[in-house]
Amino acid sequence: MRCRRCKADAIIDLRRHNAAFCRDCFVHHCHEQVRRAIHDYEMIEPGARVLVAVSGGKDSLALWHILRELGYEADGLYLGLGIGTYSDESGDFARAFAQRFDLTLHEIDLPADLGFDIPEGARTVRRSPCGVCGLSKRHLFNQAASTHGYDIVATGHNLDDEAAVLFGNTLRWDDEYLARQFPVLPATDGFVRKVKPLVRVGEREMAAYCVVLGIDYILEECPMAVGNRHLAYKELLNSLEERSPGAKAAFLFNFLDRAHERFADAAVVDKDDLLRCTICGSPTPGEVCAFCRLQARACAAPDSVPVTLRGAAS
Ligand code: AMP
Ligand code: FES
Ligand code: ZN
Repeated sequence: MRCRRCKADAIIDLRRHNAAFCRDCFVHHCHEQVRRAIHDYEMIEPGARVLVAVSGGKDSLALWHILRELGYEADGLYLGLGIGTYSDESGDFARAFAQRFDLTLHEIDLPADLGFDIPEGARTVRRSPCGVCGLSKRHLFNQAASTHGYDIVATGHNLDDEAAVLFGNTLRWDDEYLARQFPVLPATDGFVRKVKPLVRVGEREMAAYCVVLGIDYILEECPMAVGNRHLAYKELLNSLEERSPGAKAAFLFNFLDRAHERFADAAVVDKDDLLRCTICGSPTPGEVCAFCRLQARACAAPDSVPVTLRGAAS
């Protein structure tokens, strides 16, 4: 197997691209895919301050590395979700990466700073841990970015993640979610821009990127996510991809290029009508935002964690 670019011995075969690459050309390929996504979807303008949400996993650490390599000013944000040893270890990987490359990492620890953890929050409000976790992440990413003056939040969602989410949204023809599924969500009053620069690279490519560059990341998946629908959709798409390489990318990019705008009218919330949460100041359709309501209920639960540093973000 020869590298498509330089003809040296290849280390990885990417069937979707009908190409193999040597180490250096593979790293170059990953950078180019991210550069192209940023350009095509107008994600980050030169000089913008980017906050990368880093989970300690391969995608977000690779993303942070690539953005710095491409010359962007990008700091990190790690949320300690209080999911047992999984959270302790993922935080260690995020911190070790920041230390190794001398980067700024902001941290918010849900149990210590906000008085509850994800398993407890989910129990209290009787929702799935992933639902409560998603709500908390969206809120805290936005709040931390606004507080610290970042223009953009970047997450490590990759092609496999986005195709799996699209698959679920399409199975249900959920037009509201389909309207919101795009690699860039523009800033509106009170919300910073959100971008997914890894939309053109797959999970396997990001794992290989970390391995060839010696970036250590947490291998374990979140224990709360085991058996969720999203993972089942990924498995289905992987078996399809096995039989027809490129099917996953075609599914996602044909939607983004040709079908997404047909759902635009289904985006329900009129951002101009939003009020400000009376507790945290975030935009919300009601008086108190969904996150502050969750926090209030979880902290009122009998076995909640005492708050030491309410709402702090370093
Ligand atoms: P997930 O929802 O776990 O698939 O993660 C999607 C993206 O959200 C990751 O690539 C990160 O950018 C971000 N993320 C997930 N967990 C955390 C965390 N604990 N702290 C900061 N960012 C996170
Ligand atoms: Fe959020 Fe697992 S990372 S529930
Ligand atoms: Zn609030």
